[in-house]
Amino acid sequence: MAKDKITVVGAGNVGATTAFIAATRRLGRIVLVDIVKGLAEGKALDMAEASPIELSQQEILGTTDWAATAGSDVVIITSGIPRKPGMSRDDLLATNAKIVRDVSRQVVEHSPNATVIVVCNPLDAMVHVAAKVTGFAKQRVMGMAGALDSARFCYFLAAELGVSVANVQCVLMGGHGDDMVPLPRFTTVSGVPIRQLLPQDKIDQLIERTRKGGIEIVNLMGFSAFYAPAAGAVQMAEAILRDRKSLICCCAYCDRQYEAGGYFVGVPAILGRGGVERIVELDLDESEKMQFRTSLGHVKELVAKVHALLPDL
Ligand code: NAI
Ligand code: 2OP
Repeated sequence: MAKDKITVVGAGNVGATTAFIAATRRLGRIVLVDIVKGLAEGKALDMAEASPIELSQQEILGTTDWAATAGSDVVIITSGIPRKPGMSRDDLLATNAKIVRDVSRQVVEHSPNATVIVVCNPLDAMVHVAAKVTGFAKQRVMGMAGALDSARFCYFLAAELGVSVANVQCVLMGGHGDDMVPLPRFTTVSGVPIRQLLPQDKIDQLIERTRKGGIEIVNLMGFSAFYAPAAGAVQMAEAILRDRKSLICCCAYCDRQYEAGGYFVGVPAILGRGGVERIVELDLDESEKMQFRTSLGHVKELVAKVHALLPDL
């Protein structure tokens, strides 16, 4: 059987790290594409030179030529400017909407059967752009944010409780912004609800830290996070390519689900070879519903801005 082919668009911090993690997991043939001449080529060569040490006999190619991406099974879009101190994710909208539009056109031309995972910010609006431009079936277009945000929440909880990260599971919904909605009611340590393990004020502190997780890192190092985001993108690609049927929080198309009315927004979903195979509908209480509606409202505002900016979308 032919190996799967994965294209990673953008050979910057997130893209290159995504390609490297995917290579060490032996996910398939990898093509790293960037507009900066030499960048993807150099990074791909560097990764290939690590293969004897990592013992991952991987084809990994860096290029500026989209022809090399042809027939990809999964395309991960990381091409876009990241934020700097003082910027919000929304400040990236005008620049990244055009980049995601142009890249999505290339995806349609070269990999019409691909499943697309968008990473660029502001995430939920960029997934909308990719879906509109590609015209792909909605379950084949999604965004990575919930995987990252829930990993952050799980990590903070595990560190606070002194338990293995492998034992902490959580669900987190809404858009990838400060109003994301971590759900402590659906968060457990091996089945034990965290509300039985931590006082509410500590849980609230960790929720707040999760909501500000991206800016905490920007403020520390002056640029945006990339190790955990790349791990999140690979987790999604792996679930799809290996047909894992994994429940992963991600930005997915919701119509009647959660009364989202046709928007891409963060929800728990089952990912497999068919892409987003099912959205898991939780029975949210009134407070959770209200938080989700607020977050969705913000996503809708961003999508409206995208349409004002790109009237032909
Ligand atoms: P970066 O600046 O390190 O890399 C971006 C790369 O995209 C650059 O190498 C650039 O040359 C390339 N690029 C720009 N236009 C292109 C085009 N038309 N075709 C191909 N390549 C192109 O940025 P970084 O840190 O990798 O972040 C990438 C994006 O991911 C940003 O928008 C950032 O905000 C977002 N991000 C999203 C996260 C999430 O949870 N969804 C987490 C972390 C970052
Ligand atoms: C993050 O949450 C910047 O969205 C990115 O780290």
